Amino acid sequence: MLTVRTAAELRTARASLAGRVGFVPTMGALHAGHIRLMEAAKKNADHLVVSIFVNPTQFGPNEDFSKYPRTEEADLALCEAAGADIVFLPKATEIYRAGPTVRVTVDPKLSGILCGAQRPGHFDGVAQVVAILFNLVRPDSACFGEKDYQQLTVIRKLVEDLHFPVAIVPVATVREPDGLALSSRNRYLSPAERTAAPAIHRALLHCKGRAEQIRFDRIALPVGKVEEEGRALILKDIPGAQIDYFEIRHTDTLEPTHFIMNRSRAFAAVRVGATRLIDNLLLNG
Ligand code: PAF
Repeated sequence: MLTVRTAAELRTARASLAGRVGFVPTMGALHAGHIRLMEAAKKNADHLVVSIFVNPTQFGPNEDFSKYPRTEEADLALCEAAGADIVFLPKATEIYRAGPTVRVTVDPKLSGILCGAQRPGHFDGVAQVVAILFNLVRPDSACFGEKDYQQLTVIRKLVEDLHFPVAIVPVATVREPDGLALSSRNRYLSPAERTAAPAIHRALLHCKGRAEQIRFDRIALPVGKVEEEGRALILKDIPGAQIDYFEIRHTDTLEPTHFIMNRSRAFAAVRVGATRLIDNLLLNG
């Protein structure tokens, strides 16, 4: 495995790879969810390139950029074990040089909803860095987790609109046995918060149950009512939870719908103590 830190080193290392290249961009603090992304990338390609870069442009001024976990040594060991050929660990000055004059912006219809409503500029920062990483790594395919479903949707649009010749491979969310979606942020939960947090997944499953009931009983249930039930479950089971959103939308367009329909997906962002957790679930289709 080659570890490279500059664009020039990456270019040389990349040129030595023959065959198809699969790419997994990460911000480090790697866990089993990232390993799943790497496995998926290797299935789709002959070589695996991983990037580890805590991207400053996707953090707002009051967000956890400086606190974001940095675990380089452990991350490199995981990449090695997962069979990565190249790991790219750039500094911010390597990616952005003096600071970008040309920027990627995402339509607010997509970037200003769900997580974007409370994190202005976040998805512009994600799209900017992924565009740069795609240009540097030149992968044939790239894997993104479904846990960050809005991010996956933004990346799909980025690739489509800017004609990147990269196949985007979605990878199912990896969960703890009690349903909690794996996240680098789970390590911040206190034992009591960790015990309560799977209520987010249970609330999403409740919505899925309602969607099945709607299909079998041929009833029309307004989305607002089912969202209300999901929110109530979270507030009941997670003491002091603050729900940023709990919404049901169309899985492809992320547009809101009045009734639960084919390809509806439920999305949640919940503050459990000081930790903000997100999750989502396809309800049908
Ligand atoms: O999902 C992440 O870890 C980041 O948003 C990504 C895609 C690596 C861009 O910085």
